[in-house]
Amino acid sequence: MVKKAQLIYDDKSMDLPLINGTENEQAVDIAKLRAQSGLVTMDHGYANTGACTSAITFLDGEQGILRYRGYNIQDLCENSNFMEVSYLLIYGELPSPSQVEEFRNNITRHTMLHESLRSLYDAYPRDAHPMALLSSVVCSLSTFYQDAIDPLNPEHVKISIFRLLAKIPTIAAYSYKKSIGQPFIYPINALSYCANFLNMMFSVPAEHYEVDPDIEKALDLLFILHADHEQNCSTSTVRMVGSSHANMFAAISAGICALWGPLHGGANQEVLEMLQLIYEDGNNVKKYVEKAKDKNSNFRLMGFGHRVYKNFDPRAQIIKKTCDKVLSKMGINDPLLDIAHQLEEVALKDPYFVEKKLYPNVDFYSGIIYKAMGFPVEMFTVLFAIGRMPGWIAQWKEMMESKDTRIGRPRQIYTGQNQRKYVPIHKRS
Ligand code: CMC
Repeated sequence: MVKKAQLIYDDKSMDLPLINGTENEQAVDIAKLRAQSGLVTMDHGYANTGACTSAITFLDGEQGILRYRGYNIQDLCENSNFMEVSYLLIYGELPSPSQVEEFRNNITRHTMLHESLRSLYDAYPRDAHPMALLSSVVCSLSTFYQDAIDPLNPEHVKISIFRLLAKIPTIAAYSYKKSIGQPFIYPINALSYCANFLNMMFSVPAEHYEVDPDIEKALDLLFILHADHEQNCSTSTVRMVGSSHANMFAAISAGICALWGPLHGGANQEVLEMLQLIYEDGNNVKKYVEKAKDKNSNFRLMGFGHRVYKNFDPRAQIIKKTCDKVLSKMGINDPLLDIAHQLEEVALKDPYFVEKKLYPNVDFYSGIIYKAMGFPVEMFTVLFAIGRMPGWIAQWKEMMESKDTRIGRPRQIYTGQNQRKYVPIHKRS
């Protein structure tokens, strides 16, 4: 363990206090750096910068460990369910039977959308990406609940948590129904969280639809795996926007936009499109591995690499197993799964990927399961967003409740022109 840090610059020096985490991680506290030295730090992409202390999720990228509130992800996947995990993330402890019942009831009571919100969907083109709809409808919720959006009022926060968790599956399913021109299906509160979502996605008024319990269970597991991942791009966005005391709907809507990007949650859609491309190009896996290594090509193996995991992504390992199980149970023989296996095998032996520690991440196999379940590719990132909702809420809540929170406002080093005089337009060449 480091005992102290000292910064030496020019002929001066300053001691910098250390902050210790419960898993022996250490940070150099630079809160007084600028005031005492005039210096700021520079860290593109915040790869070495802690933005907060947090008691929600622990991950160790070297050892492939992921824990929510101290519980291993494998343990939660085997023994828990998404409702319980949501409670755990948001309130810090596993719920008692009565607590989880109350939580579930509260969420169930808020699943419907205000009828006027339905017309919002009509304003969008039919081929609108569902992530755009998801973000804008979530933000629009703040206009329907104006009497309960004060982020500093605990009662407002409590009900907003239920509304967000309850309505996100309805908002998501409506986006899909809009894109295929089918009528919106109202939520059924007697169904479980995942069964209700599947029903709103895939049932039609004209015939009976039965939710497959294996698919329901696999979806629940996928939601658990996506539920939180500490200070990733979308979560940091939620915290950043929330730090200005914007309401929770606005902050989470911004997080949804951040998740949409192909380097983040949007990668699950890109993975499937990439596998399809390789399939249509005659299964030439090696060609695409070579292309990913070529610095002039701009092509990356989607679903490979991670900022933090440098050995393996524990979520990807669980998803891979589930993927094999779901597909064999459904009797599906997807050639894209074979390509995914081949790609993984080739890439994991290739020195480029080995040296750069690039392994399959959570998005690599999830798309194949989603496809088998009947979801179109445009919905993949939406599924990630539904799973991530409790994590965003928990992180937002922790940020709001922390005495250390200040408005997020990084510094910069200016590299532009020095002061110059305005030149009238007729004198410019
Ligand atoms: N294919 C080929 N080369 C790669 C890849 C890849 N998927 N990922 C990273 N590299 C190379 C990259 O070119 C760089 O090489 P060099 O050092 O020679 O310049 C090196 O590996 C380090 O990459 P980086 O972009 O500096 O790493 P990062 O930590 O900034 O980015 C990442 C992490 C996940 C954005 C990146 O690995 C990537 O773009 N992966 C593909 C997209 C993806 O699967 N995203 C999902 C991430 S997991 C779930 C989530 O967060 O939503």
